Amino acid sequence: MHFQTLATHTGQTRQGAGVTATPLVDRSTSWAFDSMAELDAVFDGAAPGYFYGRDGMPNAVLLEEALTALEGGSHSLVYATGMAALASVLAVAGSGKRVLAAPDLYGRTYALLQTWLPDSGAEVRFVSSQDHETVAGALQSWRPQLLVVETLSNPLVKVSDLGWLIAQAQQVGCMVLVDNTFASPYLCRPAELGADYTVESLTKYINGHGDVLGGSITVRDPEERLRLARHRAAFGATLDPQAAWLALRGLRTLGLRMRQHSANAQDLAAFLDAHPAVARVYYPGLPADPGHDLAARLFGGRGFGGMLAFDLAEATQPRTWQVMDRLKLVLRAPTLGDVATLAAHPARASHRGLTPAQRAAIGVGDGLIRVSVGIEDAEDILADFAQALES
Ligand SMILES: Cc1ncc(COP(=O)(O)O)c(C=O)c1O
Repeated sequence: MHFQTLATHTGQTRQGAGVTATPLVDRSTSWAFDSMAELDAVFDGAAPGYFYGRDGMPNAVLLEEALTALEGGSHSLVYATGMAALASVLAVAGSGKRVLAAPDLYGRTYALLQTWLPDSGAEVRFVSSQDHETVAGALQSWRPQLLVVETLSNPLVKVSDLGWLIAQAQQVGCMVLVDNTFASPYLCRPAELGADYTVESLTKYINGHGDVLGGSITVRDPEERLRLARHRAAFGATLDPQAAWLALRGLRTLGLRMRQHSANAQDLAAFLDAHPAVARVYYPGLPADPGHDLAARLFGGRGFGGMLAFDLAEATQPRTWQVMDRLKLVLRAPTLGDVATLAAHPARASHRGLTPAQRAAIGVGDGLIRVSVGIEDAEDILADFAQALES
């Protein structure tokens, strides 16, 4: 079945007389049994069922079924937030290990790798996932056990050649974690390319409506699911049933939304690219973008996603804030993937902890604006930027 059909139909309660056509929210924290023998069998895994919400619950399991179908893995596990999912993979697969990671990861992921993971005895090194020569050298000579990359980087929307990276890592027995949040499974399915762990922040495109925090991990090996499930039950990073229900409802329209996000971002990128007040646009959908050909291949012609960034010609903070403050429709909000278009100022948001020199080194200047392009009518988004950019 095709993507939007799976998004609409998987993760349903079983059909039958008297069964609701859409899932109910089941808020119970534990399940009662007719006999101790029955409870014992469920505890053991010898019989299907639920016993305690932290170990598993119906709404989470329906969402996990749908995510597995969309991601193309063997199993998925859902978590309280995207960070809980990332922290869990790093704890299970990265503690005490040699970990190679891209330096331009989401700021909190970078902090986990730099600050917390080394406490477990892990050694962490950073290499740009676009610098293939250095990645190949590090894999061969240093033999890392875990590679951490993002499909699309934040905020400059650089594309990682996942097929190549995973093949190189597999040659030296290194496991691969891909944070696929910016692309979503509509554009890219890292598990199908061989990634051991695909992480999504459900908070972003998958829920899509800005009203749920959640995260997920999709694995290819059922043994990995068991390791992660045991860790999740022990650490308690369980997703709330109401959040699981909402995220599943959001996921039902993921394909439709991603098509509109991509079409609108393509129009906005072309508009900004031709605007005299804009120095440079970062969007892999633009033919001149360095990631264009790779993204066209990786995303199979399904579009280039809803994330873009641009540098103002007058790259000062006052001018940037002036442009952002003039936006009337677009929301100034530090998240992404919602139905509404959102603008962020990376120098004062995701990268505010870096010095100006550190930011300049990774191309995040004062005049950079990141846009999560929503699903409104494109004309209205363009008109808002047109009026905001007037000098
Ligand atoms: C790429 C990426 N990964 C992970 C996260 C963390 O997700 P959450 O906010 O759901 O914990 C974010 C949040 O912005 C993100 O942008």
